[in-house]
Amino acid sequence: MVKICCIGAGYVGGPTMAMIALKCPEIEVVVVDISVSRINAWNSDRLPIFEPGLDDVVKACRARNLFFSSDVEKHVADADIVFVSVNTPTKTRGLGAGKAADLTYWESAARMIADVSKSDKIVVEKSTVPVKTAEAIEKILTHNNKGIHFQILSNPEFLAEGTAMEDLMRPDRVLIGGRETPEGQKAVSALAAVYAHWVPQDRIITMNLWSAELSKLAANAFLAQRISSVNAMSALCETTGADVAEVAYAVGKDSRIGSRFLNSSVGFGGSCFQKDILNLVYICECNGLTEVAHYWKQVVHINDYQKSRFVNRVVSSMFNTVAGKKIAILGFAFKKDTGDTRETAAIDVCHGLLGDKAQLSIYDPQVTEDQIRRDLAMNKFDWDHPQHLVPSSPTASKQVNVVWDAYEATRNAHGICIMTEWDEFKGLDYGRIYENMVKPAFVFDGRNVVNVEEMRKIGFIVYSVGKPLDPWIKDLPAAAPSI
Ligand code: NAD
Ligand code: UDX
Repeated sequence: MVKICCIGAGYVGGPTMAMIALKCPEIEVVVVDISVSRINAWNSDRLPIFEPGLDDVVKACRARNLFFSSDVEKHVADADIVFVSVNTPTKTRGLGAGKAADLTYWESAARMIADVSKSDKIVVEKSTVPVKTAEAIEKILTHNNKGIHFQILSNPEFLAEGTAMEDLMRPDRVLIGGRETPEGQKAVSALAAVYAHWVPQDRIITMNLWSAELSKLAANAFLAQRISSVNAMSALCETTGADVAEVAYAVGKDSRIGSRFLNSSVGFGGSCFQKDILNLVYICECNGLTEVAHYWKQVVHINDYQKSRFVNRVVSSMFNTVAGKKIAILGFAFKKDTGDTRETAAIDVCHGLLGDKAQLSIYDPQVTEDQIRRDLAMNKFDWDHPQHLVPSSPTASKQVNVVWDAYEATRNAHGICIMTEWDEFKGLDYGRIYENMVKPAFVFDGRNVVNVEEMRKIGFIVYSVGKPLDPWIKDLPAAAPSI
């Protein structure tokens, strides 16, 4: 029986290994983590992450050929294939702070693998890492020269949260990069054989290590660039009277461009896009490619611009001040169908409004009050580091109220900001909400969720990203950036 161990029981490690266990009943899969509470949650009825379809797969495989354990060293020592799926956040201190990937967690995992191994292993980079990381990892793995052979592979993950199980079940492609030696190619074939249980052969793509590592950063950069492109257009739509949904539809009809991933929004969030582009920028800078670095940096710059532009619209529309006004924040997760708040646009928007002394009433169907308060108290780039290492900044706790119902959040509010495109926000009784709000009642839709015409008929003053502006909003002077 082949034994797989995955280090890191997070958003990638958990679902990915659950899918391998489901599709390969003859393989034993153990997911390990230094976080005992996370492992306990994986072994409980309430999994540590919300992901549609995940519960069923875990229930079908757990204790059959899928196990979760905090006994990291034992299971790594026993495994034939070790996936490393630890966090690789942006560095907060020292050389490359604010851009470079922090490989502390990866390095300590690699050192541990080297120390506890008693047999040859294939070590798989599942985390997103800077190009050439495999070279450094190889040096760490072989540093104590015990006569054990390690083959390192790059097998980046392309799942998106909220659709992770579907993405894993039917991936567009599986990338496997390895050394171009006979041993390297043997390891590539061994990993390809695992995926071949359910992924068609023509979707399993093999290549050299550096291409595989770089392809992951490139794919995220291209995806994020589409969003920044459509968001840049949304600003122009608002000033010209064009409708960004119509423009995106027209552009996406060109089969060379394609229609997906062209939804204008308050800005992309999530644990990957910003982190990976900044990482790419840093790699370009280190290689003397200043212009290339500058090009990709603009994708993040436009994203920041989009978030501050949104805050400006809110403040300037509401008579240039939101001080003491109740504003309902509908949605806090970085997208629908996840409880993940890492780098969510809602954090920056809330900070902007709190800076203008607003009273926020926040509701998200999947995010807890603790999480929201922690996020609002955290400094930039600290979100993906262990809690005990993270200094918190003062929270404006008296200005923030977290509630468990959209109607409660909007009662007596002056304005509503829609931050996440949860389906339930489409079906709310906005007539009832309007009745219970202070007039004039404003809606700022950062996700193009509501029907603007219907909302205006109810009486709302509506701003929806990239849509022709309400005359009320158009004539107001722009406020200074608040984020
Ligand atoms: P995560 O923070 O959810 O999970 C990482 C886990 O690794 C944590 O539970 C942490 O406790 C554990 N860990 C850290 N160091 C460890 C060690 N030395 N030993 C054992 N456990 C350790 O992160 P994630 O979202 O799953 O992302 C993991 C990697 O995958 C990152 O590099 C990320 O960029 C990449 N990725 C993420 C996504 C996504 O959608 N979240 C998609 C594709 C790729
Ligand atoms: C992304 C990549 O899609 C995935 O391939 C990679 O493995 C990890 O990073 P994820 O961050 O989970 O996945 O979600 P994604 O669907 O890409 O959305 C990222 C952000 O962009 C979200 O805030 C989303 O709301 C936003 N977005 C997405 C838009 O604003 N407009 C779009 O058209 C698409």
